[in-house]
Amino acid sequence: MKRLVVVSNRVADLRSAQAGGLAVGLADSLRQRGGVWMGWDGQTLKYEEEPEPRLRKVGTVTQATIPLTEQDYSEYYLGFSNSVLWPLFHYRLDLVEYKTTFLDGYRRVNAKFANALMSVLKPDDVIWIHDYHLLPLASELRQRGCKQRIGFFLHIPFPPPEILAAVPRHRWLVESLLEFDVIGFQTNTDLGNLQHYVEDHLGCRLEPDGKIAIGEREVIAGCFPIGIDVDSFVEMAEKPSDEVQIETQRREILGRQQIIGVDRLDYTKGLPDRLRAFARLLELYPEMRKSVALMQIATPTREEVEAYVEIRKELEALSGAINGRFADFNWTPVRYIHGTVPRDALAALFRASQVGFVTPLRDGMNLVAKEYVAAQSMENPGVLVLSKFAGAAEEMHEALIVNPYDVDDMARNLCRALTMPLEERQERQRALMQRIREHDAAYWLNSFMAALENGETNRAA
Ligand code: G6P
Repeated sequence: MKRLVVVSNRVADLRSAQAGGLAVGLADSLRQRGGVWMGWDGQTLKYEEEPEPRLRKVGTVTQATIPLTEQDYSEYYLGFSNSVLWPLFHYRLDLVEYKTTFLDGYRRVNAKFANALMSVLKPDDVIWIHDYHLLPLASELRQRGCKQRIGFFLHIPFPPPEILAAVPRHRWLVESLLEFDVIGFQTNTDLGNLQHYVEDHLGCRLEPDGKIAIGEREVIAGCFPIGIDVDSFVEMAEKPSDEVQIETQRREILGRQQIIGVDRLDYTKGLPDRLRAFARLLELYPEMRKSVALMQIATPTREEVEAYVEIRKELEALSGAINGRFADFNWTPVRYIHGTVPRDALAALFRASQVGFVTPLRDGMNLVAKEYVAAQSMENPGVLVLSKFAGAAEEMHEALIVNPYDVDDMARNLCRALTMPLEERQERQRALMQRIREHDAAYWLNSFMAALENGETNRAA
């Protein structure tokens, strides 16, 4: 079996219990085959010289990391990756802030990654590159003579051509992307958007099996929905800490239900309208007051980008306003937590919550939706209320699917979820659990690797 080399902007800490299913799945595969995980070490330095990758062996896996300069961090990470590509790929043209220096920094860091990678590659490695930070990396590697097969997986959505065309050098971005041998997307919508772009803007031909023909070459572009390691999440959910147990029992005694939301504090997650929908629930159904609360955990992220500062202010004001309006001396409707909660505690909190409320405005997949389902008990499962714009909605039909822009629709579906008969909840849970088991982390990994190593086109729907 060939050695696997994984490249992503951030390298997961493989020894941490907090690493998610995806990182664990990749790490398992790296361990079995032996492999390398390369990325940024999270440091920003003032130096100017080109760094040598720092190698650290963790069992059979080598972590190869490089630092970035302050200029790289500002132009490549905060700039082109998170102020151009991130909003653009999430259909938020209004939030795109483009500067030529951002693009320069993006190209420079991709070249830096390519140089560092070339120094650790072996001739029969197979390379798997992840996410929007590294779209031109295959092209940089090819320019340096790299002949190995290179795959790419985009964790976030891929926008329709009309949106993509708003960014300068969009053609260059997609042409660079086509230097990969396999390009993987979360959903058929994303895949279709790339196919339309290459047909309309690049005049490429699509083969009947979906491959993209460019001159003599063929690129596989496929849909590989990401999944979770279901069993390990179930196990965590079944072992609540004393603190979670006490809190759950308190709510049971008071006869109170809980709606839970867990997200990075990102403007793509639809948090303000989610809070408004909860307030609308209390307005439309006054009998719900004091019998339900919303716990929203929002993990700080990219706080140096202005749009993230704004969304934080908005949410703090909104949760304060809702509590001010509805709270009673012994009931707080919104518990807003601006922080990080350990994964095992999250799993137990999901199990103890009657509704999982996942309403992004646009999301690649959204693994919280899958984790919420994995955490439920079959005897008394909760209900997933899911945005139709999350990649997960393409598979998870048995959730209550909502429009995250329609506050009344969300409020009505929250009420439906909170009052849903046990039998219907069980039926939906059974179907959803089967789906997340079918498309789990191992399936994702194996199907992508099959395409990358054997050229097999994925047929996941
Ligand atoms: C999303 C992206 C990842 C990214 C993560 C955290 O899930 O798809 O590539 O690592 O957000 O964002 P950060 O900017 O902190 O790495």
